[in-house]
Amino acid sequence: MSLDLVAIGRVYADLVFTGLDGTPQPGHEVFARRLDIVPGGGPFITASYAAALGLRAALWGVAPAAPFEACVMAGVSRNRIIGLLESPPPGTEPQITAALVQGGDRAFVTRRTGPLLPQGALPEARHLHIGEMTSALEAPGLIATARQRGMTVSLDCGWDAAMFADPRLAETVASVDLFLPNDEEIAALHGAGVALRPRQALVIKRGAGGARAILTASGEELSAPARETTVLDTTGAGDAFNAGFLAGWLGGRDPLACLELGNACGALAVARIGGAEGLGDLRGLVEGGTASAEAGQIR
Ligand SMILES: Nc1ncnc2c1ncn2[C@@H]1O[C@H](COP(=O)(O)OP(=O)(O)OP(=O)(O)O)[C@@H](O)[C@H]1O
Ligand SMILES: [Mg+2]
Repeated sequence: MSLDLVAIGRVYADLVFTGLDGTPQPGHEVFARRLDIVPGGGPFITASYAAALGLRAALWGVAPAAPFEACVMAGVSRNRIIGLLESPPPGTEPQITAALVQGGDRAFVTRRTGPLLPQGALPEARHLHIGEMTSALEAPGLIATARQRGMTVSLDCGWDAAMFADPRLAETVASVDLFLPNDEEIAALHGAGVALRPRQALVIKRGAGGARAILTASGEELSAPARETTVLDTTGAGDAFNAGFLAGWLGGRDPLACLELGNACGALAVARIGGAEGLGDLRGLVEGGTASAEAGQIR
């Protein structure tokens, strides 16, 4: 079966502690009322939403080491992602994020470790989505390989303070079709003097402000407001947006419709707890309607 989209990047298990009885600080212990262990990382979330939107979406990467591999594999099959995941080399520490949720805010601690990509060739697909700039920098030949295969390429930015000083940022952005940072990342890139000229469009996520796109060829700017919703947890909103935008783009929709589809997915993501747990069938969104009420509900 040929793939519409292959998402690549680091794959995590997220340990999400909720209902803390205090603010974590050195020298003190706080207790959580609940712990959920769920798959995480941008590429997993984007692949999950893409699959829910009806794309044949694969995740190509390296699973976190045991005992967390099983949780990621289960999430991949639950979300109907085509899982192209390899086990990490023996001795690799588990790649995990601990998320400490208190009130509307969260603190994260992440262990990024082990190889980024499996051995072997990039899978054939129409489109390659790279979940964060650090992954593009870590696998420098990947975008060129995708292009040689005739694949289009999109790239999210992601926040990594050290990354903004990398001298390869402008050339990396110029090598992809779509670059999808958020407002804060755009400000940091501008601050670092990085020219942003992706081949087709710069797509900027603006949280409750929705999203805008600047089309490279014409210079045209478009924007679409966010959908109104009740915000429960913003984890993965940007990655869900990416899937919606890409589903529109790969479906030949005009850029404004792509922004709207991205916003629809972003709004679903903020209205649920966690990254991409219990996603229903979102194909109705691509057909121009709204997803069935239960599709976006927390289960
Ligand atoms: N409060 C909100 N109300 C409605 N939609 C929202 C809200 N916050 C985010 N979204 C939707 O989600 C999209 C992505 O959110 P945001 O701009 O926060 O991305 P991000 O900062 O990259 O997120 P992430 O933390 O997942 O990387 C927005 O463009 C918007 O469509
Ligand atoms: Mg983001």
